[in-house]
Amino acid sequence: MKVLVTGGCGFIGSNFVHLLMKDQSVSKLTNLDALTYAGHPQNTSDFKDDDRYEFVEGDLRNKSLVFDLVKEAELIVHFAAESHVDRSIESPDEFITTNIVGSFNLLEALKNTNPKARFVQVSTDEVYGSIQEGQFTTKSPIEPNSPYSASKAGADLLARSYHQTYGLEILITRSSNNYGPRQTPEKLIPLMIQRATAGQALPVYGDGSNVRDWIYVEDNCLGVWQACKKGQAGKVYHFGGECEKSNLEVVHQIIESTGANKDQIEFVKDRLGHDWRYALSIEGSEKELGWRPETDFNQGLSKTISWYKENGDWMKAVSQKIETWMKRYEGD
Ligand code: NAD
Ligand code: TYD
Repeated sequence: MKVLVTGGCGFIGSNFVHLLMKDQSVSKLTNLDALTYAGHPQNTSDFKDDDRYEFVEGDLRNKSLVFDLVKEAELIVHFAAESHVDRSIESPDEFITTNIVGSFNLLEALKNTNPKARFVQVSTDEVYGSIQEGQFTTKSPIEPNSPYSASKAGADLLARSYHQTYGLEILITRSSNNYGPRQTPEKLIPLMIQRATAGQALPVYGDGSNVRDWIYVEDNCLGVWQACKKGQAGKVYHFGGECEKSNLEVVHQIIESTGANKDQIEFVKDRLGHDWRYALSIEGSEKELGWRPETDFNQGLSKTISWYKENGDWMKAVSQKIETWMKRYEGD
């Protein structure tokens, strides 16, 4: 099978590339990535000499490039996005053009050049907004609260409409918060690992009681792959970790595991429009795909911390790329 992955040099996309390159049913994997601040070529360097792998440095917003690549694929798995909520609050422009217009370009390419191919839109529980009690189901209303989640919701709704209107083989996956190797250290877990280890302040927004449902990235990738193979077009599949934790709990666990000090915690100004809690029902994915998250949080966090410890060069290179963003923490 010929697969086009978008965003394969990012966090989840690169873990997905690693998974697919182990699968001999994949005869060719093309990775389209613009190498933004969050895309790192070293994330897929294991495959650079592999004949089954092709890297194309390019932008989803380049319509003719997108048309050329989509027309060659049997399966398109769309991860590429601007993905950081805080950045979307500060400057949403790229979120609109990449996440909405970029996804639109892929869908147009599918419709016009390759209507028999399968398309998987990789999305997030954040499109449902925040939930006080219970869990989001695939039928929950779409009520995004940040420019990031609104842009993802826009793309999801376009994907849905291209299935409904043109009968294309499109499905959507939505996962909870991923953690694991190769995540850019602007998101909670890698940021805290990096700063805890360096003896720096650990900036917790508000009082740290917001809740996220954490999934180890490889479990999400296995779910997305199952959805690619067995999912039904027009449907939404949830991949949650069944692992709800407050941010403060997560930070305490990182402090314990890295030998850092509780005094490093610093409560800082809360995020604007900060979603209180996310929680996903995975019932449909269990029943239809036979999928469940396999990695428990203690095991996953300890693998993640070890990966960052063993990959100091990666962390150094990536940190240099996001130096401007990290200036916000200066003066600690
Ligand atoms: P990431 O920010 O680590 O990686 C995004 C990748 O997309 C990067 O390699 C970047 O270079 C590439 N990219 C960005 N703009 C592009 C453009 N215009 N053209 C081509 N490539 C471009 O993101 P991630 O955390 O790996 O998330 C991947 C997907 O999963 C996103 O769609 C995100 O919304 C979704 N998701 C992420 C999480 C999470 O916890 N990280 C949870 C649920 C869903
Ligand atoms: P993040 O990793 O940015 O993911 P998302 O906002 O998509 O869920 O943030 C996870 C949680 O951690 C969120 O409630 C915000 C909080 N947070 C902090 O408290 N401090 C930080 O420095 C960051 C980046 C996040």
